[in-house]
Amino acid sequence: MSAEDRFAELHRRHAQAELGGGEERIRRQHKAGKKTARERIELLLDPGSFLEVDKFVVHQSHDFGMEEQKVLGDGVVTGSGRIHGRTVFVFAQDFTVFGGSLSEAYARKICKIMDLAMKTGVPVIGLNDSGGARIQEGVASLGGYADIFLRNTLASGVVPQISAVMGPCAGGAVYSPAITDFVFMVKNTSYMFVTGPDVIKAVTHESVSAEELGGATTHGTTSGVAHFAADSEEECLALIRELLTFLPQNNVDDPPLRPTRDPVDRRDESLQTLVPEQPNKPYDIKDVIRTVLDDHYFFEVHAGFAPNIVVGFGRLGGRPVGIVANQPAHLAGCLDINASLKGARFVRFCDCFNIPLVTFEDVPGFLPGTAQEFGGIIKHGAKLLYAYCEATVPKLTVITRKAYGGAYDVMSSKHIRGDANFAWPTAEIAVMGPEGAVNILYRREVEAAADAAAFRDARIREYRAKFANPYVAAERGYVDEVIEPRDTRARLCAMLDVLKSKRDSNPPRKHGNIPL
Ligand code: HXC
Repeated sequence: MSAEDRFAELHRRHAQAELGGGEERIRRQHKAGKKTARERIELLLDPGSFLEVDKFVVHQSHDFGMEEQKVLGDGVVTGSGRIHGRTVFVFAQDFTVFGGSLSEAYARKICKIMDLAMKTGVPVIGLNDSGGARIQEGVASLGGYADIFLRNTLASGVVPQISAVMGPCAGGAVYSPAITDFVFMVKNTSYMFVTGPDVIKAVTHESVSAEELGGATTHGTTSGVAHFAADSEEECLALIRELLTFLPQNNVDDPPLRPTRDPVDRRDESLQTLVPEQPNKPYDIKDVIRTVLDDHYFFEVHAGFAPNIVVGFGRLGGRPVGIVANQPAHLAGCLDINASLKGARFVRFCDCFNIPLVTFEDVPGFLPGTAQEFGGIIKHGAKLLYAYCEATVPKLTVITRKAYGGAYDVMSSKHIRGDANFAWPTAEIAVMGPEGAVNILYRREVEAAADAAAFRDARIREYRAKFANPYVAAERGYVDEVIEPRDTRARLCAMLDVLKSKRDSNPPRKHGNIPL
């Protein structure tokens, strides 16, 4: 064979691999409103940066006539590339090849890039679109999944792992995305479930569509499995690119700086009057967050789930920070099971990846009720507490209004290693609100009083005067400084700068036992 023929053979193989399952299946993929694996990679990565590996890998299966059906690449496209100039590893499942189903060879391709990602300290992004385990390969496919799960687990907290679900994701296949740090879904074209609508119908007689059961809206709002529910594949991939701008490459790297023209000492007068005079009146904590962050920009995570707590990323003086904030505009900012889970996972992510935490606190306490107690708010609330206690990244706290009860302790208090704890003059730091406290402390006296209402009101006023302020806590050093709201950005930026060399650690052990 001449050299020319050999080159032609190489080109032929490239072209064949790039066609995946063929033109007809690509057409069907497009008709379903989905892009192909290669089109997705193109949108995800910086132009021309993709370095593919294992393009010519094929499966080794001989059952069910599979030896006659070999497709170069075997249904997954893998390699490395760059996002905003920084390296990432990526795998994109190709639904046009055996429905993107996972074979032994396919799993090996994914494991190969994950192993390299761990050695090089580089994030891994998985674009999932697959009918699950390749039925023809049986246990070899199940083993392939388990090989990936193990790597997901060992990489957890070492390199960021991001999953986009862009088609079906069923059975045990959902557990790889579930172990990763962030799950993105696309509305109307992706779904995730452990057992699908047909099995549910047979077992529990419930009728439910795939979209209702496991679509992006369901997982973005009800279950909380998905952190982002995008309107389109383009939006989904653009969001992943943006998320990475806040993250370091790995657990020994620092998050990337992005210089800003926004002055670090910018004062904002609107904050002076943002907290309403009436203590039970809601306001939007996102107004505070946006006002304080660089360029008023907040990248919210998990926006549709547990809106009584707000989490996401922003920058202060160019440095990425993780924001956790009670939201008085939903459930008065109470902590419930979902808010605790959402907050805890985010706090732990930031702690893994050296992202300082900024907490805005306005919390009347944990949500009362049998649903919460029976659902285990004790153990779930404990997760948020545990996550804050173990976090060793710089922790800054701003109490804007209520810091009541156990929630005061939980929300990055001084006692659990808060580094810089500020309170606004509107802060109320106490075991509980004035009404509740008076009901308990003066029950007998109120019953015996000639004018019970007047007696009760007087006691409430006394309690409010004594505790509904930040000064009792400030006298004990439980808040470092009471600041005017308009100075919040300047104080946070200054303290973040002070804390940039912070080093703290936890006792050596195999691992802690977070109350799961
Ligand atoms: C082999 C598969 C496959 C699979 C789909 N295909 N799933 N081949 N193994 N798991 C093939 C189909 O035969 C078809 O091939 C092509 O992919 C496209 O599939 P369609 O059914 O035509 O597409 P669509 O109508 O869009 O339906 C997609 C689907 C459906 C919902 C994913 O294919 C499906 O239900 N597949 C089976 C899902 C499943 O039960 N997987 C196992 C889950 S358990 P042709 O040649 O006709 O185009 C699991 C265990 C994981 O994954 C273990 C981890 C612990």
